[in-house]
Amino acid sequence: MNISIIGSGYVGLVTGVCLAHIGHNVICVDIDEEKIKKLRKALVPIYEPGLGELIKKYIKKKTLSFTTSIKEATKKTDVIFIAVGTPSKKNGDADLTYVENVARQIAESMTSYKLIIEKSTVPADTGNKIRRTVELNVNKKHRKGTKSQIEFDVASNPEFLREGSAVDDFMNPDRVVIGVESKKAEKILREIYKPLKPKMVVTDINSAEIIKHASNSFLATKISFANALSQVCNHVGADILKVVEGMGYDKRIGKSFLNAGIGYGGSCFPKDVDAFIRLSEKNGYDFALLKSVRDINKEQKQSFIKLIEEKLWIVKNKTIGVLGLAFKPNTDDMRSAPSIDIIQQLQKEGAKIKAFDPKASTTAKEVFKKITYAKDVYGAVKDCDCLLLLTEWDEFKDIDFEKLRRLMNQPIIFDGRNLYHDKNLEKMGFEYYGIGRGKV
Ligand code: UDX
Repeated sequence: MNISIIGSGYVGLVTGVCLAHIGHNVICVDIDEEKIKKLRKALVPIYEPGLGELIKKYIKKKTLSFTTSIKEATKKTDVIFIAVGTPSKKNGDADLTYVENVARQIAESMTSYKLIIEKSTVPADTGNKIRRTVELNVNKKHRKGTKSQIEFDVASNPEFLREGSAVDDFMNPDRVVIGVESKKAEKILREIYKPLKPKMVVTDINSAEIIKHASNSFLATKISFANALSQVCNHVGADILKVVEGMGYDKRIGKSFLNAGIGYGGSCFPKDVDAFIRLSEKNGYDFALLKSVRDINKEQKQSFIKLIEEKLWIVKNKTIGVLGLAFKPNTDDMRSAPSIDIIQQLQKEGAKIKAFDPKASTTAKEVFKKITYAKDVYGAVKDCDCLLLLTEWDEFKDIDFEKLRRLMNQPIIFDGRNLYHDKNLEKMGFEYYGIGRGKV
């Protein structure tokens, strides 16, 4: 099938490349000319394991191409995914400017049937708004008043891709959700995903849009629940790792997304929780539970900073080594990374920061202007007065702690992801502080 993806960011690019991988002819569109030029040379603008090889393969096979023109893509394909960004506004609303703009441009170029599919994460009722925008913007010669004379459908097909495992997540979906308003749209979407033989969940458009916000919000709720539990464990003197282990064997609870740490970040959870709270408020429901999820996420970083202030005694003029900047491992993405608030607060108190992240140092330079970027773990900890583990990269697991202790001014480790929970660092001469590991 001939398919266009409008918006070649983390979601659109992975979706387009994987659709080519399962046999479709795909055109990826982006407004950023530089990005499109690089993509045509298979230069990948994001770090996502496995993506680069697939781009090279399908450019060569000529089933994957790139353009800046929505008009060209609309003319060449009947199926068009809208995968542009929906950033948060100041009040938490999802900003749908780019979505509306793309819907308008598709409408203006339409001369035959189109299936327009929301891939971006959007609040409920967006599909209806896209439908209305298309009706009103179809070229006048194909329109009678406010009614398009060209048949088209709108659908919702939310993504559940995790950064760092997005290709794998696309190729092995737990389910594919499609929100449709016609049998024709359903048939086309079933055809698109057929090679994956997935569990298909077919709903109306509003329900599909809610499924996305609800899924991310529930995952964020699990994380905040684990983080709140870690605070209780600190006060009571219990071990969060044992608590969530004992909980997780219950199939109704499950082990995943119960890892206490310095909170969730990324381009999705913070934004989607905000947007879901706002959508609910605008429709007459005060989603108090999600507001607490958001507050707990903020408090978790604050309590980590408070612990550092307490144990360092004086933060001013101290040198702090940081391992990990990205919002999670296997990505270079710094959006809403917990490291941002933590480092900025410590800098405000006069600390000097030295940091190492295997992939995010380049992207981090746009966020942190005044930190020293080390080339490796040992460069980050040399002469530092304490070490913060903020992102649990695999390569931070088996480091030489003897060497670490020799290099550090003060052997104090604050482990924001409980990565070193089983290393017995106290026995090796460190002051070690994890998250929720008992009385602090
Ligand atoms: C998330 C959803 O998982 C995915 O389905 C959706 O499509 C996009 O948003 P992503 O944001 O890429 O994916 O990362 P994820 O692996 O979900 O982690 C999000 C944040 O939660 C990270 O900051 C991570 O460190 C944190 N996290 C995750 C925890 O703090 N504890 C956990 O147990 C799991």
